[in-house]
Amino acid sequence: MRVHQPLKLVSSALLAGAALAATPAAHAQDQLNVICSVQADWCNGLSTAYARATGVKMNVSLKGSGEALAQLIAERDNPKTDVWFGGTGDPHLQAAEQGLTLEYKSPAMTQLHPWAQRQAQQSGYKTVGIYSGPLGFGYNPELLAKKKLAVPHSWADLLKPEYKGEIQVANPASSGTAYTMIATLVQLMGEDKAFDYMKALHKNIGQYTRSGTAPIKAVARGETAVSISFVHDGPPEKLHGFPVETVTPAEGTGAEIGSMSIVKGARHVEAAKKFYDWALTPAAQEIPFQTKASFQVPSNMATKLDPNVPDFRKIKFIDYDYAKYGASVERKRLIARWEKDVNSLPR
Ligand code: G6P
Repeated sequence: MRVHQPLKLVSSALLAGAALAATPAAHAQDQLNVICSVQADWCNGLSTAYARATGVKMNVSLKGSGEALAQLIAERDNPKTDVWFGGTGDPHLQAAEQGLTLEYKSPAMTQLHPWAQRQAQQSGYKTVGIYSGPLGFGYNPELLAKKKLAVPHSWADLLKPEYKGEIQVANPASSGTAYTMIATLVQLMGEDKAFDYMKALHKNIGQYTRSGTAPIKAVARGETAVSISFVHDGPPEKLHGFPVETVTPAEGTGAEIGSMSIVKGARHVEAAKKFYDWALTPAAQEIPFQTKASFQVPSNMATKLDPNVPDFRKIKFIDYDYAKYGASVERKRLIARWEKDVNSLPR
Protein backbone atom coordinates (compact mmCIF):
# COMPACT_ATOMS: atom_id res chain seq x y z
CA MET A 1 0.00 0.00 0.00
CA ARG A 2 2.66 2.45 1.09
CA VAL A 3 4.63 1.94 -2.13
CA HIS A 4 1.67 2.94 -4.26
CA GLN A 5 0.65 5.94 -2.22
CA PRO A 6 2.86 8.60 -3.87
CA LEU A 7 1.53 7.52 -7.29
CA LYS A 8 -2.02 7.76 -6.02
CA LEU A 9 -1.31 11.22 -4.62
CA VAL A 10 0.16 12.41 -7.91
CA SER A 11 -2.76 11.12 -9.92
CA SER A 12 -5.37 12.58 -7.58
CA ALA A 13 -3.48 15.88 -7.61
CA LEU A 14 -3.55 15.86 -11.41
CA LEU A 15 -7.26 15.07 -11.40
CA ALA A 16 -7.96 17.82 -8.89
CA GLY A 17 -5.92 20.22 -11.04
CA ALA A 18 -7.91 19.25 -14.13
CA ALA A 19 -11.20 19.78 -12.28
CA LEU A 20 -10.06 23.19 -11.08
CA ALA A 21 -8.99 24.18 -14.59
CA ALA A 22 -12.41 23.16 -15.94
CA THR A 23 -14.44 25.05 -13.32
CA PRO A 24 -12.25 27.77 -11.82
CA ALA A 25 -14.92 29.12 -9.46
CA ALA A 26 -15.91 25.78 -7.93
CA HIS A 27 -14.31 24.55 -4.73
CA ALA A 28 -13.81 20.81 -4.40
CA GLN A 29 -16.06 19.52 -1.63
CA ASP A 30 -13.59 16.88 -0.41
CA GLN A 31 -12.21 19.07 2.33
CA LEU A 32 -13.53 21.24 5.10
CA ASN A 33 -12.04 24.09 7.13
CA VAL A 34 -13.24 23.87 10.72
CA ILE A 35 -12.66 26.09 13.71
CA CYS A 36 -12.94 23.76 16.68
CA SER A 37 -13.60 25.26 20.13
CA VAL A 38 -13.67 22.07 22.22
CA GLN A 39 -10.85 19.98 23.70
CA ALA A 40 -8.08 19.10 21.20
CA ASP A 41 -8.59 15.33 21.64
CA TRP A 42 -12.23 15.70 20.66
CA CYS A 43 -11.37 17.84 17.58
CA ASN A 44 -8.78 15.29 16.45
CA GLY A 45 -11.17 12.40 17.10
CA LEU A 46 -13.83 14.11 14.97
CA SER A 47 -11.48 14.72 12.08
CA THR A 48 -10.17 11.12 12.08
CA ALA A 49 -13.66 9.59 12.28
CA TYR A 50 -15.05 11.92 9.63
CA ALA A 51 -12.20 11.23 7.18
CA ARG A 52 -12.70 7.51 7.74
CA ALA A 53 -16.47 7.72 7.19
CA THR A 54 -16.49 10.06 4.19
CA GLY A 55 -12.99 10.55 2.80
CA VAL A 56 -13.32 14.29 3.48
CA LYS A 57 -10.24 15.93 4.97
CA MET A 58 -10.89 18.31 7.86
CA ASN A 59 -8.40 21.14 8.37
CA VAL A 60 -8.86 21.92 12.05
CA SER A 61 -7.92 25.14 13.81
CA LEU A 62 -8.27 25.15 17.61
CA LYS A 63 -9.69 28.39 19.02
CA GLY A 64 -11.54 29.48 22.15
CA SER A 65 -15.13 30.67 21.67
CA GLY A 66 -14.34 34.40 21.85
CA GLU A 67 -11.32 34.05 19.57
CA ALA A 68 -13.36 32.04 17.06
CA LEU A 69 -15.98 34.78 16.89
CA ALA A 70 -13.24 37.40 16.41
CA GLN A 71 -11.86 35.36 13.51
CA LEU A 72 -15.26 35.06 11.80
CA ILE A 73 -15.70 38.83 12.11
CA ALA A 74 -12.23 39.39 10.62
CA GLU A 75 -12.96 36.97 7.73
CA ARG A 76 -16.42 38.39 7.05
CA ASP A 77 -15.67 39.60 3.49
CA ASN A 78 -13.64 36.53 2.49
CA PRO A 79 -14.48 33.57 4.73
CA LYS A 80 -11.88 30.83 4.99
CA THR A 81 -13.78 28.85 7.61
CA ASP A 82 -16.64 26.52 6.67
CA VAL A 83 -17.85 25.28 10.06
CA TRP A 84 -17.42 26.52 13.60
CA PHE A 85 -17.74 23.46 15.83
CA GLY A 86 -18.31 23.78 19.57
CA GLY A 87 -17.58 26.41 22.14
CA THR A 88 -20.16 28.14 24.31
CA GLY A 89 -23.42 29.15 22.66
CA ASP A 90 -23.45 32.87 23.47
CA PRO A 91 -20.87 33.89 20.83
CA HIS A 92 -22.55 31.58 18.27
CA LEU A 93 -25.80 33.51 18.87
CA GLN A 94 -23.86 36.74 18.50
CA ALA A 95 -22.40 35.50 15.17
CA ALA A 96 -25.93 34.60 13.99
CA GLU A 97 -27.21 38.04 14.92
CA GLN A 98 -24.36 39.66 13.00
CA GLY A 99 -25.20 37.66 9.87
CA LEU A 100 -21.92 35.72 9.96
CA THR A 101 -23.50 32.27 9.88
CA LEU A 102 -25.75 30.45 7.46
CA GLU A 103 -29.37 29.48 8.06
CA TYR A 104 -29.60 25.69 7.84
CA LYS A 105 -32.17 23.31 9.28
CA SER A 106 -30.71 19.83 9.57
CA PRO A 107 -33.04 16.85 9.07
CA ALA A 108 -31.66 15.66 12.43
CA MET A 109 -33.22 18.66 14.25
CA THR A 110 -36.22 16.71 15.60
CA GLN A 111 -33.89 14.17 17.27
CA LEU A 112 -32.39 16.88 19.49
CA HIS A 113 -33.18 17.85 23.08
CA PRO A 114 -35.56 20.84 23.36
CA TRP A 115 -32.71 23.08 24.64
CA ALA A 116 -30.68 22.37 21.49
CA GLN A 117 -33.66 23.03 19.22
CA ARG A 118 -34.44 26.25 21.11
CA GLN A 119 -30.88 27.46 20.50
CA ALA A 120 -31.49 26.91 16.77
CA GLN A 121 -34.92 28.59 16.77
CA GLN A 122 -33.61 31.61 18.69
CA SER A 123 -30.94 32.18 16.02
CA GLY A 124 -33.22 31.72 13.01
CA TYR A 125 -31.51 28.31 12.48
CA LYS A 126 -28.09 29.94 12.12
CA THR A 127 -26.66 27.80 14.92
CA VAL A 128 -27.67 24.66 16.80
CA GLY A 129 -26.98 23.15 20.23
CA ILE A 130 -24.57 20.21 20.19
CA TYR A 131 -24.00 19.73 23.93
CA SER A 132 -24.71 21.21 27.35
CA GLY A 133 -22.76 21.34 30.59
CA PRO A 134 -22.75 23.16 33.94
CA LEU A 135 -20.29 25.76 35.23
CA GLY A 136 -18.66 25.00 38.56
CA PHE A 137 -15.30 24.72 40.28
CA GLY A 138 -12.40 22.32 39.82
CA TYR A 139 -10.06 21.63 42.72
CA ASN A 140 -6.99 19.59 43.54
CA PRO A 141 -7.77 17.74 46.81
CA GLU A 142 -4.09 16.91 47.43
CA LEU A 143 -2.96 20.51 47.04
CA LEU A 144 -5.85 21.82 49.15
CA ALA A 145 -4.91 19.37 51.95
CA LYS A 146 -1.24 20.32 51.70
CA LYS A 147 -2.11 24.02 51.97
CA LYS A 148 -4.71 23.31 54.69
CA LEU A 149 -7.45 24.86 52.57
CA ALA A 150 -11.10 23.73 52.57
CA VAL A 151 -12.99 22.65 49.45
CA PRO A 152 -15.01 25.67 48.20
CA HIS A 153 -18.74 24.95 47.96
CA SER A 154 -20.15 28.33 47.01
CA TRP A 155 -19.39 31.49 45.07
CA ALA A 156 -19.10 33.18 48.49
CA ASP A 157 -16.38 30.72 49.56
CA LEU A 158 -14.15 31.82 46.67
CA LEU A 159 -13.81 35.28 48.23
CA LYS A 160 -12.18 33.97 51.42
CA PRO A 161 -8.74 35.55 51.88
CA GLU A 162 -7.04 32.15 52.27
CA TYR A 163 -7.59 31.49 48.54
CA LYS A 164 -5.47 34.51 47.56
CA GLY A 165 -3.57 33.67 44.37
CA GLU A 166 -4.99 30.11 44.41
CA ILE A 167 -7.83 30.50 41.87
CA GLN A 168 -7.61 30.53 38.09
CA VAL A 169 -10.28 31.41 35.55
CA ALA A 170 -10.02 32.34 31.88
CA ASN A 171 -10.25 35.81 30.33
CA PRO A 172 -13.80 36.43 29.01
CA ALA A 173 -12.55 38.21 25.88
CA SER A 174 -11.07 34.95 24.54
CA SER A 175 -13.01 32.34 26.51
CA GLY A 176 -16.68 31.43 26.45
CA THR A 177 -16.27 29.63 29.78
CA ALA A 178 -15.30 32.91 31.45
CA TYR A 179 -18.11 34.81 29.74
CA THR A 180 -20.53 32.16 31.02
CA MET A 181 -19.22 32.96 34.52
CA ILE A 182 -19.92 36.70 34.08
CA ALA A 183 -23.40 36.09 32.65
CA THR A 184 -24.17 33.57 35.42
CA LEU A 185 -23.10 35.94 38.22
CA VAL A 186 -25.04 38.85 36.70
CA GLN A 187 -28.20 36.73 36.55
CA LEU A 188 -27.63 35.34 40.03
CA MET A 189 -26.77 38.56 41.88
CA GLY A 190 -27.87 41.49 39.70
CA GLU A 191 -25.29 43.37 37.64
CA ASP A 192 -23.76 45.79 40.14
CA LYS A 193 -23.47 43.18 42.90
CA ALA A 194 -21.96 40.73 40.39
CA PHE A 195 -19.28 43.27 39.46
CA ASP A 196 -18.57 43.99 43.15
CA TYR A 197 -18.21 40.23 43.55
CA MET A 198 -15.81 39.90 40.58
CA LYS A 199 -13.70 42.82 41.89
CA ALA A 200 -13.36 41.01 45.24
CA LEU A 201 -12.67 37.71 43.47
CA HIS A 202 -9.95 39.42 41.38
CA LYS A 203 -7.79 39.61 44.54
CA ASN A 204 -7.77 35.83 44.76
CA ILE A 205 -7.08 35.16 41.07
CA GLY A 206 -3.54 33.96 40.37
CA GLN A 207 -3.95 34.09 36.59
CA TYR A 208 -6.52 34.78 33.89
CA THR A 209 -5.83 32.30 31.10
CA ARG A 210 -6.60 32.55 27.37
CA SER A 211 -8.39 29.20 27.09
CA GLY A 212 -11.34 28.12 29.21
CA THR A 213 -9.85 24.69 29.92
CA ALA A 214 -6.38 25.91 30.96
CA PRO A 215 -7.39 26.58 34.62
CA ILE A 216 -8.58 23.00 35.31
CA LYS A 217 -5.46 21.65 33.59
CA ALA A 218 -3.41 23.83 35.97
CA VAL A 219 -5.40 22.39 38.89
CA ALA A 220 -4.67 18.87 37.61
CA ARG A 221 -0.94 19.57 37.49
CA GLY A 222 -0.90 21.10 40.98
CA GLU A 223 -0.10 24.61 39.72
CA THR A 224 -3.19 26.13 41.30
CA ALA A 225 -5.63 24.79 43.88
CA VAL A 226 -8.98 25.91 42.43
CA SER A 227 -10.43 26.78 39.01
CA ILE A 228 -13.72 28.14 37.73
CA SER A 229 -14.50 25.67 34.95
CA PHE A 230 -17.13 23.58 33.29
CA VAL A 231 -17.54 20.53 35.49
CA HIS A 232 -17.46 18.15 32.49
CA ASP A 233 -13.81 19.19 31.98
CA GLY A 234 -12.85 17.50 35.28
CA PRO A 235 -13.26 13.77 34.43
CA PRO A 236 -10.81 13.82 31.46
CA GLU A 237 -8.04 15.01 33.79
CA LYS A 238 -8.99 12.43 36.38
CA LEU A 239 -9.00 9.67 33.75
CA HIS A 240 -5.45 10.71 32.89
CA GLY A 241 -4.51 10.05 36.51
CA PHE A 242 -4.53 13.59 37.91
CA PRO A 243 -6.07 14.47 41.30
CA VAL A 244 -9.05 16.63 40.25
CA GLU A 245 -12.56 16.90 41.66
CA THR A 246 -15.41 19.21 40.75
CA VAL A 247 -18.26 20.85 42.64
CA THR A 248 -21.10 23.19 41.70
CA PRO A 249 -21.81 26.31 43.79
CA ALA A 250 -24.58 26.14 46.40
CA GLU A 251 -26.14 29.48 45.35
CA GLY A 252 -26.79 28.17 41.83
CA THR A 253 -24.97 28.13 38.52
CA GLY A 254 -25.36 28.47 34.76
CA ALA A 255 -24.97 25.95 31.95
CA GLU A 256 -23.66 26.44 28.45
CA ILE A 257 -25.33 25.26 25.27
CA GLY A 258 -22.27 24.38 23.21
CA SER A 259 -23.13 25.12 19.60
CA MET A 260 -22.21 24.60 15.95
CA SER A 261 -22.64 26.97 13.00
CA ILE A 262 -21.97 26.99 9.25
CA VAL A 263 -20.19 30.12 8.08
CA LYS A 264 -22.09 32.31 5.62
CA GLY A 265 -20.19 32.41 2.33
CA ALA A 266 -18.34 29.15 3.18
CA ARG A 267 -16.33 27.83 0.24
CA HIS A 268 -17.25 24.23 0.96
CA VAL A 269 -20.88 24.79 1.80
CA GLU A 270 -22.19 21.41 0.63
CA ALA A 271 -19.45 19.60 2.56
CA ALA A 272 -20.25 21.82 5.56
CA LYS A 273 -23.92 20.78 5.55
CA LYS A 274 -22.99 17.09 5.33
CA PHE A 275 -20.59 17.44 8.24
CA TYR A 276 -23.24 19.34 10.25
CA ASP A 277 -25.78 16.53 9.76
CA TRP A 278 -23.17 13.94 10.72
CA ALA A 279 -22.09 15.88 13.82
CA LEU A 280 -25.66 15.65 15.12
CA THR A 281 -25.76 11.83 14.95
CA PRO A 282 -25.29 9.72 18.10
CA ALA A 283 -22.19 8.07 16.54
CA ALA A 284 -20.44 11.44 16.18
CA GLN A 285 -21.66 12.67 19.57
CA GLU A 286 -20.06 9.69 21.35
CA ILE A 287 -16.59 10.72 20.11
CA PRO A 288 -15.77 12.93 23.14
CA PHE A 289 -16.53 9.94 25.40
CA GLN A 290 -14.51 7.50 23.30
CA THR A 291 -11.53 9.87 23.17
CA LYS A 292 -11.99 10.70 26.90
CA ALA A 293 -11.88 14.38 25.87
CA SER A 294 -14.93 15.67 27.71
CA PHE A 295 -18.29 14.67 29.11
CA GLN A 296 -21.08 17.10 28.28
CA VAL A 297 -24.70 16.06 27.69
CA PRO A 298 -24.92 15.51 23.91
CA SER A 299 -27.79 17.18 22.05
CA ASN A 300 -29.07 14.10 20.21
CA MET A 301 -31.47 12.40 22.63
CA ALA A 302 -30.48 8.94 21.33
CA THR A 303 -26.78 9.36 22.19
CA LYS A 304 -25.76 6.93 24.91
CA LEU A 305 -24.64 8.85 28.01
CA ASP A 306 -21.27 8.12 29.58
CA PRO A 307 -21.28 7.62 33.39
CA ASN A 308 -18.90 10.60 33.68
CA VAL A 309 -21.54 13.03 32.39
CA PRO A 310 -22.62 15.30 35.28
CA ASP A 311 -26.03 14.52 36.76
CA PHE A 312 -28.05 17.68 36.09
CA ARG A 313 -30.71 16.62 38.61
CA LYS A 314 -28.24 17.15 41.46
CA ILE A 315 -27.26 20.69 40.42
CA LYS A 316 -28.98 23.95 41.33
CA PHE A 317 -29.35 25.93 38.10
CA ILE A 318 -30.33 29.51 37.39
CA ASP A 319 -32.79 30.07 34.54
CA TYR A 320 -30.08 31.23 32.10
CA ASP A 321 -31.40 33.70 29.51
CA TYR A 322 -29.48 32.55 26.41
CA ALA A 323 -31.07 35.06 24.04
CA LYS A 324 -30.25 38.05 26.26
CA TYR A 325 -26.67 37.07 27.09
CA GLY A 326 -25.96 35.94 23.51
CA ALA A 327 -26.96 39.36 22.13
CA SER A 328 -24.01 41.31 20.68
CA VAL A 329 -24.62 44.51 22.60
CA GLU A 330 -24.94 42.74 25.95
CA ARG A 331 -21.92 40.46 25.49
CA LYS A 332 -19.67 43.30 24.30
CA ARG A 333 -20.85 45.60 27.08
CA LEU A 334 -20.31 43.07 29.87
CA ILE A 335 -16.83 42.11 28.63
CA ALA A 336 -15.85 45.78 28.30
CA ARG A 337 -17.13 46.46 31.81
CA TRP A 338 -15.13 43.50 33.13
CA GLU A 339 -11.96 44.87 31.44
CA LYS A 340 -12.53 48.34 32.87
CA ASP A 341 -13.90 47.59 36.34
CA VAL A 342 -12.16 44.32 37.16
CA ASN A 343 -9.16 43.40 35.02
CA SER A 344 -7.60 46.87 35.29
CA LEU A 345 -7.44 46.67 39.11
CA PRO A 346 -4.18 45.72 40.82
CA ARG A 347 -4.06 42.35 42.54
C1 G6P B 1 -14.06 23.27 26.74
C2 G6P B 1 -15.34 22.69 27.23
C3 G6P B 1 -16.49 23.10 26.34
C4 G6P B 1 -16.54 24.60 26.17
C5 G6P B 1 -15.20 25.12 25.71
C6 G6P B 1 -15.15 26.64 25.71
O1 G6P B 1 -13.67 22.68 25.55
O2 G6P B 1 -15.25 21.29 27.32
O3 G6P B 1 -17.66 22.63 26.90
O4 G6P B 1 -17.57 24.95 25.28
O5 G6P B 1 -14.18 24.66 26.58
O6 G6P B 1 -13.85 27.04 25.50
P1 G6P B 1 -13.37 28.51 25.81
O7 G6P B 1 -11.88 28.48 25.65
O8 G6P B 1 -14.05 29.40 24.82
O9 G6P B 1 -13.77 28.84 27.21
